[in-house]
Order: sequence, then C-alpha cells, then structure tokens
Amino acid sequence: MLKGRSILEPMDMTTAELEEIFDLADAIIDDPEKFAHACDGKLLATLFYEPSTRTRFSFEAAMLRLGGKVIGFSEPNSSSVAKGESIADTIRTIACYADIAVMRHPKEGAPRIAANNTDMPVINAGDGGHMHPTQTLTDLLTIRRRKGGFTNLKIGLCGDLKFGRTVHSLIKAMSRYEGVEFIMISPEELRVPEYVRKGVLEANNVPYREVKKMKEVMPELDVLYMTRVQRERFFNEEDYIRLKDRYILDLEKIENAKEDLMILHPLPRVNEIAVEVDNDPRALYFEQAKNGMFVRMSLIMKLLGIEVQ
Ligand code: CP
Repeated sequence: MLKGRSILEPMDMTTAELEEIFDLADAIIDDPEKFAHACDGKLLATLFYEPSTRTRFSFEAAMLRLGGKVIGFSEPNSSSVAKGESIADTIRTIACYADIAVMRHPKEGAPRIAANNTDMPVINAGDGGHMHPTQTLTDLLTIRRRKGGFTNLKIGLCGDLKFGRTVHSLIKAMSRYEGVEFIMISPEELRVPEYVRKGVLEANNVPYREVKKMKEVMPELDVLYMTRVQRERFFNEEDYIRLKDRYILDLEKIENAKEDLMILHPLPRVNEIAVEVDNDPRALYFEQAKNGMFVRMSLIMKLLGIEVQ
C-alpha cells in the first residue's frame, strides 16, 4: 500500500509495488481520458531549489492531466527560503495547503528532512549527487515497455558515474533483479562512489566491470545509459572542462551495437550524444522523457490512494 508514503529513494518501493505503478502507468498511456478527473480537488506543491525542465514540468503536467492543481516555486528566492526559512518550516507550511509535495534540492538528504516533518507524502525529485527515484521510475517503465521486464540485462552506464544521481538510483533499483550485470564506463575520477560499489553492487553480489572505453563493450550491451558530466557538482571548472567531452556517442560508435540496444539518457544532454543519433530507432531518450509524465501520474495516484474503476 503506497498511500500516504514518501518516496525518497528507489528502495522505498518493493518490486511488487513498482509493478503496480508501471501497470497503472501503462493503463494511463492506453486511455488517458479515463484518468482525466482522478485528482479533481487535489493540490500538488513543487518545491524546486535547483533548476529542472523534465522533472518539474512532467510532475506539473501529470497533476494537471489528472484534473488536479499545482502550486510551487522553481526559484527558491521567490519564497521565504530567501529569508532563511528552514526546510522543516517550509514543508510544515506547504502541508497546510497541498496534498502532496515534490522537492528538488542541491543538498543530499534534504527531501528526507522534509518528509520527517510532515505526514503529507513528499517525493524526492533529486537531492544533490545522491538519488533521483522518479527518474528511475521513468527509466524502468521505458525498459519494461521495450524489454517486457528487468531480468537478464547487461546495462552500460557511461559518463559521470560519480555525481550522476540518476545512475546511483538506477543501480540500486536494478540490483534487485536476476541476471542483471553492469558495465560502468567512465574516467577514473568519475567512477561510482564507494557507497554504491560496495554498499549496493558488492553487497548484493551483482556482477560489474569498470572500463574506460565505450566502443569495446558496445556489442554486449542491452541498455546504454548515457549521462551528462554534472558541471554544477564540480569543485573547479578546470576539471570539468578536462572531463566534459570524454564520451560522445555518435553513429560510428553504435555500428557494432545490438539491433535492439536501448539508448537511454535522463537528459538534459550537453555533448555526450551527437544529434545524428536521435533518428536511430535505438535512441529512446525522448520516449523516456514522455514516459516520465505517465509514470508520475501513476505515482501521484498511488501516493494519494486514488483508484479509477
Ligand atoms: N532528468 C532530469 O532530472 O531532468 P531535469 O533536470 O530537467 O528535471
């Protein structure tokens, strides 16, 4: 039962609950009209302390398409945050007005502090370089709709695996399925953090390899998950400039890839996927972004305990 719960990381949902969320998302995709009034009278608050296009707009579109309404800020300096109000006081106040809240924050753990200070469901929309559970829902729905499930997949993760919160969330979620193997493609400095390598992969006996070259592993992959180098998390600009264009996926690099390879990217992209790849049928990142809205519609309904017969 997801009703009333907060979602702060992927493990806050069991694999059975994930299937329920994806089943409902599939039903919404098949017949969106049926759900057009599911959230009549409900209010979603979006608290974005960091920039966003997909996550904020897709949450807002999700609530509006369910018949609900949206309040919030995308620029914290337009709220009393600018006067020094704490996360605890902000969320207690928002809970007086809204039924459910979505929070993105540059500090790891900030949405958890919010959730600990309210009975209203709080959804983590990305906390620093830590987790981004609803991006993982988006990724998994896209994989499930193409592959039919999550077992026996070889997943390549490429780019900034250190600061990329979507990668950390995806590894956590996928580590629960049989036959999943990761190939992590990154420079030495941008490898996955210890808490993911030891605490998730090794703790669950999930096979993984760390490599520096993309092309040599390409023929093995079922999913290639590209990521942007996270400029905003670097301590100095020189390191960012040195590392930012290390991996650029182009048509030549996928010549020897599987015909049913899924190329995913949480977006936004900078240079890491050449635009020429966009027309390849294996490029699924805009389909992924679209699925993000449907899976968030499903999640909102589940957390509010709303069913449509
Ligand atoms: N994937 C993602 O989180 O995109 P935004 O930063 O645009 O929300």
